[in-house]
Amino acid sequence: MDQRPIGVFDSGVGGLTVVREIMEQLPNEEIIYFGDTARVPYGSKSKETVTKYSKQIIRFLMTKNIKAIIIACNTASSNSLEEVQRTFDIPIIGVVEPGAVMASRTTKNNRIGIIGTEATIRSKSYENAIKLHNKDIQTFSLSCPLFVPLAEEGWTNNEVAYLVAKKYLEHFHAKEIDTLVLGCTHYPLLKDVIQEVIGENVCLINPALEVAKELKELLLLRDGLRHPSQSPRHSFYVSDNTTKFEQIAAIALKKSIPHAIKIDIERY
Ligand code: DGL
Repeated sequence: MDQRPIGVFDSGVGGLTVVREIMEQLPNEEIIYFGDTARVPYGSKSKETVTKYSKQIIRFLMTKNIKAIIIACNTASSNSLEEVQRTFDIPIIGVVEPGAVMASRTTKNNRIGIIGTEATIRSKSYENAIKLHNKDIQTFSLSCPLFVPLAEEGWTNNEVAYLVAKKYLEHFHAKEIDTLVLGCTHYPLLKDVIQEVIGENVCLINPALEVAKELKELLLLRDGLRHPSQSPRHSFYVSDNTTKFEQIAAIALKKSIPHAIKIDIERY
């Protein structure tokens, strides 16, 4: 048994789609979340900048006596996972590998679409991870940067979101994909609109499901699950604008959260 919390981070509210899954699959675990609301979006930034941000956030989370870290951000996973795993002496799980495995197992016609931020698509992280599992799979990638501000604004199911999705997803029209990876943790917040536009025949992959499973396996292996006797008290930290974060978090998690605490991440 290990009563310590799990650190989870993202550039903003997107990582809450991963938190939701962890809460579902591991209800006794305590979570310390950090959303980098002052520096969102990460998707337009360079590998160096995203890696610097990841390191600062991990240093901050490690002051909270955590037992593991989930990088609940595809951009940070794609651009900094290997470097931070080398740098820090704590188990760190990213979202790309679990999502790629799930997509490879799901496709029947070996044609997978991948949507993510510019930095994730540029890194080819999903493409490479999918090809590693099955080299016969063909991938089709597209960055959809406007989905992130829509999710941060809570505009996840209105006519603007629909039009943006329609414009982006036209890209896949003649590609005959049967599987589409939501390669950004903000995107599951727009799942309904994306599914409506892409059509019912395309299976959407939300890597969060597999990430929570991988975390469970890791904790079981280390006898690191939390004892259920005390109910978990989650904490939420941000680098800016707590009120907006709390509002969107309540929608994403379908319950209200304790007040988010603003910290100066540049100090770490
Ligand atoms: N939610 C993040 C991801 O999974 C980052 C989005 C962004 O900040 O651009 O890629």
